[in-house]
Amino acid sequence: MLCDVYGMALLSHFPSADSFRSTVPEGNGGLAEMSDAVNQRLYEALAEHHHLIFEDWDASIRHQGEIIAKLLPQPECGPILDAACGIGTQSLALAALGYSVEGSDISSAVVARAERECAVRGLDCKFRVDDMRTLTAAPPSRYSVVMAMDNAVPHLESDEEIVTAFAAMRTRLLPTGKVVISVRDYQRHLEERPSSLPPRFYSDGGRRRIVFQIWDWIDQRRYRFHLYVTRDTSQGWITHHFEGTYRAVTTEEIADLAKRAGLREIAVLPARDTGFYQPIIVATGG
Ligand SMILES: C[S@@+](CC[C@H](N)C(=O)[O-])C[C@H]1O[C@@H](n2cnc3c(N)ncnc32)[C@H](O)[C@@H]1O
Repeated sequence: MLCDVYGMALLSHFPSADSFRSTVPEGNGGLAEMSDAVNQRLYEALAEHHHLIFEDWDASIRHQGEIIAKLLPQPECGPILDAACGIGTQSLALAALGYSVEGSDISSAVVARAERECAVRGLDCKFRVDDMRTLTAAPPSRYSVVMAMDNAVPHLESDEEIVTAFAAMRTRLLPTGKVVISVRDYQRHLEERPSSLPPRFYSDGGRRRIVFQIWDWIDQRRYRFHLYVTRDTSQGWITHHFEGTYRAVTTEEIADLAKRAGLREIAVLPARDTGFYQPIIVATGG
């Protein structure tokens, strides 16, 4: 049985993300309202619509599962904790591949949706509300993997919060367990500070669905994003608007914060190497 994966070491010293922070400019129309409250509202509102940001959510579930499973220990090695499970993209994928999965998230609305999606698919995951900074509902030394995918970690407000979350994840691992994180590749965004992302055009049975984001930068690191999902429906065009905040941290900074939290054998796997749509960071606990 193979319970150990990705032993590559990648470590050097990188400056703290907080050291790049500037003060929030005055008079910026409330942009500085940060992040827990804004993001709680975001995911309460997004829970029933989150699948619409994927071209085909079920296809993405399968595709992500195939890629992530290649990086994980085998299912027999122990349960997985998906510590920012959202509506269940990775939890459902890994449960379908035979893993025992527990999913938790700070948003009760997404947890409720994940439970529903799990039941519809006849899968057996356990979902609950929990904060990845504390993981109070997760027993220590229980999991072969603790993961937080799709840029969940940059929702945290400071380097200290990320270290706290990684330390909470580490203490929940079995001795050979792994932390697995995926984040947006922010290096280029920090240089270019884009004010929008290119729109994605999807088709729902011949009717157009357009997904795009506007980014309002708050300071050197933080931005408030506006996510628009615009659909051509039988009742005409409908636009959903959602707002959240992120603090851009690079993969190298994440690796450094993982080291500060006591994680070891930290590897940053670029998207081109894994086929995943974001870089993945894998680290050993113990
Ligand atoms: C972009 S979504 C990704 C969800 C899921 N992993 C996926 O790929 O569909 C980020 C998730 O992180 C969750 N989150 C943000 N802060 C959190 C925290 N402190 N503890 C647990 N979950 C958190 C949000 O509620 C949201 O569901």
